[in-house]
Amino acid sequence: MKVFVTRLISETGLDKLKNAGIETLIWKEKRELPHADLIKYSKQCNALLSAGYNKIDAEFLNDCRHLKVIALHSVGFDNVDVMEADRLKIPIGHTPGILSGPTADVAFLLMLAVSRKAFYLHEKIKKGEWKFFEPTANLGINLYGKTLGIFGLGSIGFEMAKRCKGAYQMNVIYHNRSKNLLAEKELNAKLVSFEELLKDSDILSVHSNLTPETKGKFDKTVFEKMKPSAIFINTARGSIHNEEDLIEALQKGTIWGAGLDVTNPEPMRMDNPLLTMPNAAVLPHIGSATLQTRNAMSDMAAENIIAGLKGERIPFPVNPEIYSE
Ligand code: DGY
Repeated sequence: MKVFVTRLISETGLDKLKNAGIETLIWKEKRELPHADLIKYSKQCNALLSAGYNKIDAEFLNDCRHLKVIALHSVGFDNVDVMEADRLKIPIGHTPGILSGPTADVAFLLMLAVSRKAFYLHEKIKKGEWKFFEPTANLGINLYGKTLGIFGLGSIGFEMAKRCKGAYQMNVIYHNRSKNLLAEKELNAKLVSFEELLKDSDILSVHSNLTPETKGKFDKTVFEKMKPSAIFINTARGSIHNEEDLIEALQKGTIWGAGLDVTNPEPMRMDNPLLTMPNAAVLPHIGSATLQTRNAMSDMAAENIIAGLKGERIPFPVNPEIYSE
């Protein structure tokens, strides 16, 4: 049995595959994997371990319907046509749970960085612009007792809310399709309408999946409904916000600041104004980038591959429904 691995991932998972007697074909080049190569190498293998943003759409799935399992090295699966995978009965695996804390850490880090203009001021030091003490310059804002609004309160949103509540006694509101009973019980979180979320949040942090409903959701009209003192954080997917509208909102002072771990496109262009704005902080999609988490993701992806190749139920399925029919 052979698996195509689309990026060099942590050894831990690769060792598991090897110990299970599975051969690997790994794309080791330091550039995007062309779609044609994704198809070409997947055709030479029995399974696909997809790390990075590979388009696993209906066309790919039909072309590669021989694949016994596709394991994503991510929790997000917006790059996959899950309905088509269901139809073709291809199990899709992902890596839920383990990256919730680390991703929330990045959201929290961005919130702090924006509230104190940290990345911008760091750049100023490097440019030799720290000349003397100015009592009225470089001012940020306090976070204590603010209202945190979570858009999409799942496990990552919960971890972010827990951190904000613990560190700053924040009042937590959230907008979801359904109630998050754990967050209501443990964090006193309150489910609100989308309009209320915009109106009342001092910090609005996005943690939803990218779906047709959330794509481009945070645009000009939405930023205009937020507080001028609000901070917008997105660690989910860059396409959930409209980047041009966000830049305009920051330039005009429609909102106070923004922290992004995800951009649109990724990688972002070097001339993107967000990189030089005092009220923005940007990171290169590092939510899950800790040694421990990446090892665990590699392990979980390998476990999905091993089970799938044996024809067993995979341990971390995106589409468990294929097993119930
Ligand atoms: C995920 O797992 O979905 C993270 O965003 C990394 O891609």
